[in-house]
Amino acid sequence: MEKIKETLDYINSKTNGFKPEIAVILGSGLGSFCDNLKGCNIPYDDIPHFASSNVKGHKGELLFCKINNKDCVIMQGRFHFYEGHSMQEATYPIKIFKQLGVKNLIITNAAGGVNKNFNVGDIVLILDHINFMGTNPLIGKNDDSLGERFPDMSNCYDKELINLAKKCAKNLNMDLKEGVYLATTGPSYETAAEIRAYRVLGADVVGMSSVPEAIVANWLKIKTTTLSLVTNFATGVSDTKLSHQEVIETGKTQGQKLSGLIKEIIKNI
Ligand code: HPA
Repeated sequence: MEKIKETLDYINSKTNGFKPEIAVILGSGLGSFCDNLKGCNIPYDDIPHFASSNVKGHKGELLFCKINNKDCVIMQGRFHFYEGHSMQEATYPIKIFKQLGVKNLIITNAAGGVNKNFNVGDIVLILDHINFMGTNPLIGKNDDSLGERFPDMSNCYDKELINLAKKCAKNLNMDLKEGVYLATTGPSYETAAEIRAYRVLGADVVGMSSVPEAIVANWLKIKTTTLSLVTNFATGVSDTKLSHQEVIETGKTQGQKLSGLIKEIIKNI
């Protein structure tokens, strides 16, 4: 808890004790969400006990700001397990959000489309996940003051937020797909055989993030919803080779739609 206090003290000294009620995590190439937002930016490198994020397409800052009159904190880029961060390091910001007073978390990510009915550019509301990372961020001594040893996962993707997201998409006249997110560690993309196997298991999209954050948020009783932007067909779904460049480019061109939906959700929370 001493570590958490040091992080909080630093953040509070920069934000004058700003108390966000909503947190947003932005995935690869989705940084344009922040283009017209003004507030207090804090680089991860300056925050005690935060890891530093070096992935192309991620900015590496927290932004504290008002969106539609709600107090928010935006994570511009996340810490991935494949970067070599431990699961604890990757999910540390969620523990900080809880202490700052965050009640709702909106997670976004770039994902590969496993479901053959999905297209590049589709936005998928995540109804549930399959943790295929082979580990879990809650492994280790449990801090009972923060959450239970064996947290229930039946509402990890909060049903009220799911319904709200659907309503908001309708308000915006936007097509919103629904599905299951399967998380791998990466960093290699999947083989075609793996994608076929994941489809049989029930996956609709695949990615290398989000599940650790969702597990920790659920443990901390932060209401969570996840939105994936399909940036590419998963391996074998089409003939094209996968590249991180394609993921970032699709994020940039299609991210606008997702930004609009997130702002509508924030407005209606
Ligand atoms: N696989 C895994 N992670 C991803 C993909 C993918 O196809 N696209 C974006 N992130």
